[in-house]
Amino acid sequence: MAMGTKMMMAFRMMSISPGMPSSSPPTQSPAPTSLPLRTIPGSYGWPLLGPISDRLDYFWFQGPDTFFKKRIDKYKSTVFRTNVPPTFPFFTGVNPNVVAVLDTKSFAYLFDMDIVEKKNILVGEFMPSVKFTGNIRTCAYLDTSEPQHTQLKNFAMDILKRSSKVWLSELVASLDTMWDTIDTDVSQKGSGSYLVPLQQALFKFLVKSLTGADPSKSPEIAEGGYVMLDKWLALQLLPTIKIGILQPLEEIFLHSFAYPFFLVSGDYNKLYQFIINEAKELIRYAETEFGLNQEETVHNLLFILGFNAFGGFSIFLPGLISRIVSDTALQEKLRDEVRQNSGPSLSFESVMKMPLVQSVVYETLRLSPPVPLQFARARKDFQLSSHDSVFDIKKGELLCGYQPLVMRDPVVFDDPESFKADRFTGEEGTELLSYLYWSNGPQTGSPSESNKQCAAKDYVTLTGSMMVAYLFKRYDSITGDSASITAVEKAVK
Ligand code: HEM
Repeated sequence: MAMGTKMMMAFRMMSISPGMPSSSPPTQSPAPTSLPLRTIPGSYGWPLLGPISDRLDYFWFQGPDTFFKKRIDKYKSTVFRTNVPPTFPFFTGVNPNVVAVLDTKSFAYLFDMDIVEKKNILVGEFMPSVKFTGNIRTCAYLDTSEPQHTQLKNFAMDILKRSSKVWLSELVASLDTMWDTIDTDVSQKGSGSYLVPLQQALFKFLVKSLTGADPSKSPEIAEGGYVMLDKWLALQLLPTIKIGILQPLEEIFLHSFAYPFFLVSGDYNKLYQFIINEAKELIRYAETEFGLNQEETVHNLLFILGFNAFGGFSIFLPGLISRIVSDTALQEKLRDEVRQNSGPSLSFESVMKMPLVQSVVYETLRLSPPVPLQFARARKDFQLSSHDSVFDIKKGELLCGYQPLVMRDPVVFDDPESFKADRFTGEEGTELLSYLYWSNGPQTGSPSESNKQCAAKDYVTLTGSMMVAYLFKRYDSITGDSASITAVEKAVK
């Protein structure tokens, strides 16, 4: 590492502390700081008018990126007050007021469970009806102070551990089917969309490895299970996401009210019944080992499967594929590393010897974090630091972090807008993992019952790495874009 780079790195690390997690998130209120105390800039505007104007900016006139960037520029601060949708007219019980935290230092307060709570705010102040989850508040909506959170988080981590025996073989079997379909389409039609084959592969792989159930036991679930999950997810999240279709139709029809559960209740009940019939062993195990009744187990399993796992991977993996298939120079380097280290068949151990493959996965998660918004509510009054100021936060205020901007924090990341494939390699790259937050905690942290970090943090990055390694064992090169593959050159066996 050049001397200049080292000094720059040291400067960065100094300017981030104090109060900043180095290798793990803060677990108690940060130490006092000498930064100046500043009143939080920004305002919520006039009642009704402020929220509606911010909503239209967020979804229509600016989009989330520009919405937050413009306000950083206006207030000369990465911490400010604003409104985030959904809001007026039909979300009357939803308070849109938030304190935005948009740099790596202020965002890290979202992980400190001593000073913030996470009850019912997975997607913000708006919470989709619990009817979508069998009238149960599933793990992701529970705060760490609620005893059921401990029970369910431990259950989630345990099913992942149990699934690790079959995770790789199920992943490879599903990838084989997926890429066979794409190969056929490319040779017959000149191109093959990968979005549907990927979702089909994910559905089968995740159902089998996480629940032990085999979708092929039910032709209806095997055929259409992934579409059932897509619809169930969409109805819950529509009021909070920008789709980008013709305005003002999107505002009127997708962002103005919450869609009712009955529209997908038939599908959900089929999935529920399928798990009851085909995951009997796991349901019994959950009862004896974790004291969970059948209802709690099955609704939580469906949420983990559909929302956390299928939803997360359905956003993350297309982004990763798209990045790779559109960059020939990167492919050459990845192919060399994979071929040199993989041996006759893929294993978790061999992927651990592929630093570039892992770095590409981390860099994709940095620039396109699949869950862009994270929320946390102040448990008590406390002082929050950004890189340049300190702010008083009052008990009950809702903090809102927008990861795509936080992960482009120029104080931490060099040339933050660029995709640098090897950013997370070497000593300096490994240190940067403390600032990679896609999982609601640093990449160097560990999920546990006392925090809200993604239970599958390591499974997600390993799965992404396995998929990249799989591609370069199968192909010499792949060409395509964000939706389809247009040419493949198969590896000579
Ligand atoms: C690319 C895939 C995934 C992404 C991007 C992702 C991301 C996240 C994020 C950001 C959170 C925190 C949400 C918040 O509180 O603000 C979370 C929580 C969680 N994730 Fe993941 N996740 C993924 C896959 C998975 C998988 C495969 C599982 C399977 C077990 C899983 C299980 C969970 C659970 C149980 C929680 C709740 C943690 C708690 O309540 O303490 N996730 N995930």
